[in-house]
Amino acid sequence: MDPLTPQAVLFDAYGTLFDVYSVASLGEQLFPGHGQALSVLWRDKQIEYSRLVTTSDDGAHYQPFWDLTRAGLRYACKRLGLALAPEREEQLMNQYRHLSAFPENHEVLRALKRRGVVTGVLSNGDPAMLEVAVKSAGLSAVLDHVISVDSIRKYKTHPQAYALGEQVCGLPAGRIVFVSSNSWDALAATWYGYQTLWVNRQGLPFEELGTEPTRTASSLREVLEFF
Ligand code: LAC
Repeated sequence: MDPLTPQAVLFDAYGTLFDVYSVASLGEQLFPGHGQALSVLWRDKQIEYSRLVTTSDDGAHYQPFWDLTRAGLRYACKRLGLALAPEREEQLMNQYRHLSAFPENHEVLRALKRRGVVTGVLSNGDPAMLEVAVKSAGLSAVLDHVISVDSIRKYKTHPQAYALGEQVCGLPAGRIVFVSSNSWDALAATWYGYQTLWVNRQGLPFEELGTEPTRTASSLREVLEFF
């Protein structure tokens, strides 16, 4: 077998398997005219907080991703001048718990399983939120591993977070494809040593830091081209 043929595929969860911007429509219902801005700011703040707690004080301020998600929502509403009553907060958090999955997910994961490829999720999400998301998207049967960084209390892009993928799959990163629609995640996974697929659904530029992902695609389907 070609030494570079991967044996496993690990997917980022939020933004890659699950559409984080699908909360925009509920946001729009609750706060007309602000749904889109709310969903973008919410996501940006959630990620910013994950970096803040990982890089400060050796992780002493770690909080699970669910809590950072709630903190990001509260911040985004304050920043946009939106009154987040407790029942609206619960509605939006509940929507986040049950995010829509991108339509091609099932077909791609089934095709990988048919080829005997090990599949998994490697995510910042905490185990409880990942379990609900995977189940409600109907993906449990096609994912061999659901890996959360919560066990090490460090978020991606910390190298220990990417190391979990190797440990759980029992393979070196070079034999694993890491798939993310977050350009920063695809970049850091490439730096770590994974073969990478950046799923660029929004037609964005890649990060300008001198490293490119192994492949770029507009949907998850292209992951099959690694095999
Ligand atoms: C995740 C976030 C980064 O699922 O989207 O890890």
